[in-house]
Amino acid sequence: MSRPRILVITNRKGGTGKTTTAVNLAAEFAASGQRTLLIDLDTQNHCALGLGVKLAANHPTAHDLFSATAPMPLTEAIVNTAWLGLDLVTADPDFHHDRAPDDEHILGRALAEPALAGQYDWIVLDSPPSLDVLLINALTAAHWALIPFMPHPLSGEGVRQLARVFFRVAMNSNADLRLLGLLPVMLDTRIVQHRRVQEQIVSQFGQERILGGIRSDIKLAESFAAGQPIREYAPRSRGNEDYQTAFANLCTRLIALPSASGR
Ligand SMILES: Nc1ncnc2c1ncn2[C@@H]1O[C@H](COP(=O)(O)OP(=O)(O)OP(=O)(O)O)[C@@H](O)[C@H]1O
Ligand SMILES: [Mg+2]
Repeated sequence: MSRPRILVITNRKGGTGKTTTAVNLAAEFAASGQRTLLIDLDTQNHCALGLGVKLAANHPTAHDLFSATAPMPLTEAIVNTAWLGLDLVTADPDFHHDRAPDDEHILGRALAEPALAGQYDWIVLDSPPSLDVLLINALTAAHWALIPFMPHPLSGEGVRQLARVFFRVAMNSNADLRLLGLLPVMLDTRIVQHRRVQEQIVSQFGQERILGGIRSDIKLAESFAAGQPIREYAPRSRGNEDYQTAFANLCTRLIALPSASGR
């Protein structure tokens, strides 16, 4: 039975559009007919907000996997969303990161459970900006990483920090991990500072790794608050146009990239 491909959306810097990107790309995967599971590993639990999912406080979450006392199968935490082919595992706002066992393979083992095999084509992981065992678990479980970044000097540093963690995981615990690309968010090429940071990232990672760019669009923030992916909330917005283009670029890059295990 086929195994899902796993994409982690990550950056060491907070507020760089990770969750907006995770929700909207997961919605694109599902709309293109691929069965998709979005897993929220960030205790802010924003994916549920962005997809309009409200659950009882005691509903199982992704963080229950990391409970030392009573770890739980991931399947118990999966909920359907209002969108065909898109399921969600929410995060636990009360989870304390220092309680997580020091084991980078917890998520990978959970995603390899026989109960999940054949159920999904794609699993998208939204990750916390902190460098902790959850981020390492996400990178260890994933086949691909996508890094949204804002073209500010501090964000450039966040990308470099993430790149160091990425290569450490790729060398030590996950030889399958590939850098799918970087996605500039809230890019305005009229601003000199934005152009400069963008040029630095391009020279460091290569133009082919930049998957277009997401312009600033209040509709993206509004769609989040309305609990809908941008493709549903404002299909004619530039936010939707940009995410559609980023998704098309991502699909092209997936086809072009050599993959260690054929996934
Ligand atoms: N292209 C955009 N245009 C306008 N607003 C945006 C855009 N992308 C994201 N936002 C808004 O910026 C804020 C931060 O975005 P988001 O929550 O996706 O970032 P994040 O990297 O997940 O943050 P955190 O590190 O806190 O998890 C949100 O309020 C979101 O609605
Ligand atoms: Mg987030």
